[in-house]
Amino acid sequence: MPSNPLRRYQHGGDCWALVTGATNGMGEEYALQLAQLGFNLIIHGRNASKLDSVAARIKAKNPIADVRSLVIDASTSTHDLSELKKLLAEVRLTVLINNIGVVTQDYPLLEEQNAALIASQLSVNTLFPTVVAATALPVLKRNEPSLMINMSSLGAFAPAPYLAPYSGAKAYMLGFSRALYNEMHCENRNVDVVCMVPGQVVSGMNEGPPTTMMPMAEAWVKAALASLAPGFFSKRPAPVIVPHGVHSWAARAMSIMTRGMNDSATCSVTVKLRNKKLDSTASKTVDSSNDEA
Ligand SMILES: NC(=O)c1ccc[n+]([C@@H]2O[C@H](COP(=O)([O-])OP(=O)(O)OC[C@H]3O[C@@H](n4cnc5c(N)ncnc54)[C@H](OP(=O)(O)O)[C@@H]3O)[C@@H](O)[C@H]2O)c1
Repeated sequence: MPSNPLRRYQHGGDCWALVTGATNGMGEEYALQLAQLGFNLIIHGRNASKLDSVAARIKAKNPIADVRSLVIDASTSTHDLSELKKLLAEVRLTVLINNIGVVTQDYPLLEEQNAALIASQLSVNTLFPTVVAATALPVLKRNEPSLMINMSSLGAFAPAPYLAPYSGAKAYMLGFSRALYNEMHCENRNVDVVCMVPGQVVSGMNEGPPTTMMPMAEAWVKAALASLAPGFFSKRPAPVIVPHGVHSWAARAMSIMTRGMNDSATCSVTVKLRNKKLDSTASKTVDSSNDEA
């Protein structure tokens, strides 16, 4: 990584970053690595004690970092934003990482998901990031040059069976982020809006071990932050970035495949993952019924 790829967003004194979904996976890594680059942090999650543990890990590595916690359950249809607004009034935010996301772990058919489960997934994956972006944007405009990262997925380019609400939500994040990028352009603003596109990464969503196609969250976030460094032709990052090497090759391959080839590859990969998950759930059920006997 160059010395500090986010220097563009560090100006005028202490600078703060807000990371949503910071209690696991890539969100926790974003928070740790941003603290190492000199940012103070607002870390968001739904569980106060998990946030305390993440704050302690950040402080252990970066004793001078100031870390504040923000507890909001993102799965509801409306969100109490009063604490977020209060924090934004107290600190100088220059970076928002709209990282939060949730997926159904057991690859259910759509009709197996009730309305409440569908609504909560859509709220976590689309409504909450949109509302957080709208709340933080006036502050990012005041403190420009500033940065907003929105997290999509390769699933937005290759919509996966058994993950229809999730794949649809990630396509929303891609469209939302690109639209906001264009809005900043039309308004002559220096708020850099970037849609980051991960493939599979080891995290709360995917158990390890890591493989060539599935890096650890630490390596993925390192690549994501490095991809924001000013380029030869522009100081501003691209609107859509697939930062990790193998994922970026996969995205390029997808872009030249026919739709049929793309769909068939996506179905084959997802069906394998689903079968693996179903096998592991079945063997856990057998183990627990043997324990009870
Ligand atoms: N991992 C992948 O393979 C992959 C691939 C493509 C895209 N992505 C995207 O990358 C982003 C990060 O994914 P990840 O794999 O790092 O996720 P993760 O490890 O599962 O962590 C998700 C974070 O979101 C929080 N969260 C979930 N539901 C919440 C709710 N209702 N209210 C508040 N917080 C909530 C979690 O809190 P708890 O700790 O309390 O659960 C956790 O902090 C997501 O947007 C995801 O869609 C991931």
